Amino acid sequence: MKILVTGGAGFIGSHLIDYLISRQHYVVCVDDLSMGRLEHIRHHLQNSHFEFFELDILNGAELNQVFSSGKFQCVFHMAANSDIPAGVQNMNLDLQKTFLTTHCVLECMKNNGVKDLVFASSSAIYGKSYEPLAEGDGPLRPVSFYGAAKLASEAYISAACEVHDLRAWIIRFPNVVGERATHGVVFDFINKLRQNPGRLLILGDGKQQKPYLYVKDLIESILFVWNNSSGDLNCFNIAPSDSVTVTQIAEIVVGEMGLGDVEFSYTGQDRGWPGDVPRFEYDVGKINALGWKAPTTSAQAVKIAVKAQLREISCATTSGNNCRW
Ligand SMILES: NC(=O)c1ccc[n+]([C@@H]2O[C@H](COP(=O)([O-])OP(=O)(O)OC[C@H]3O[C@@H](n4cnc5c(N)ncnc54)[C@H](O)[C@@H]3O)[C@@H](O)[C@H]2O)c1
Repeated sequence: MKILVTGGAGFIGSHLIDYLISRQHYVVCVDDLSMGRLEHIRHHLQNSHFEFFELDILNGAELNQVFSSGKFQCVFHMAANSDIPAGVQNMNLDLQKTFLTTHCVLECMKNNGVKDLVFASSSAIYGKSYEPLAEGDGPLRPVSFYGAAKLASEAYISAACEVHDLRAWIIRFPNVVGERATHGVVFDFINKLRQNPGRLLILGDGKQQKPYLYVKDLIESILFVWNNSSGDLNCFNIAPSDSVTVTQIAEIVVGEMGLGDVEFSYTGQDRGWPGDVPRFEYDVGKINALGWKAPTTSAQAVKIAVKAQLREISCATTSGNNCRW
């Protein structure tokens, strides 16, 4: 198949591209490199089944050009703002990068007759839910502009399925960790501890508790859902069935870094920052019933992610940025 991946130079998008190319698909990647990195896709640049366009999706005319020459059979829309706290400070960020990118992609799909869309949504659409919510549950009350922009994107996709005869797979990711991560709690803890190995300031009270999904499990689940559900609008929660607290993550990081006595201190509130969801669990019965269960637990995923990041740091230190992950 000929597939467009937006945000393909990012953390998750680049793993998706590795997977699609390994399954013999022809992949076109669009990314403005605002958060993504060229080294995440460098190993495909000479591949005749891969093309990369450094392009802002909001540049509708250029994106339309990519669509009209591409004749895609499916679009995987991964591009978005991935810095949720930054989006709380700057209300424009998620409007542009998380919502309007989706709008532009939908418009180009309509203009070029592309019918299939796989969309990276998020558990953030649920907001502070104290009960595990399933895909059809509501009301949905996001607590960040990022979550609001993902929910608005879902709403536009739903309308486009009806009005433009699209088929869509909306997949609500939890926190995702693993190789090539450029943000998130594991990334932050390692960076803080490299600067000060004796002390770690943890945002919140450390009791925030969420599921963490290993990035390679996520990619498998996306492809599984895409291949095994065929309604017009297919919506799935994805996560492992367990969770870890932020303090447990800090302990895993300290252990993997081989540090002895690290003093943990806390900023104190129940959430890390305005827009953070302190506790989260959602119902993954639908994807489990379809036949997919995360093989890696949250704690195992965090451990893999810590090891990977330490390897990446050591490789970058010894050989510049010339590492193949
Ligand atoms: N990482 C997670 O824990 C997580 C959780 C839930 C949902 N998601 C979603 O998964 C997707 C991928 O996330 P990620 O963690 O890989 O983030 P990322 O920042 O690594 O990847 C997003 C990519 O989109 C690109 N991008 C942003 N705005 C663009 C624009 N206007 N034009 C072109 N490219 C643009 C960035 O440069 C980046 O490469 C996002 O949609 C994100 O919201 C991620």
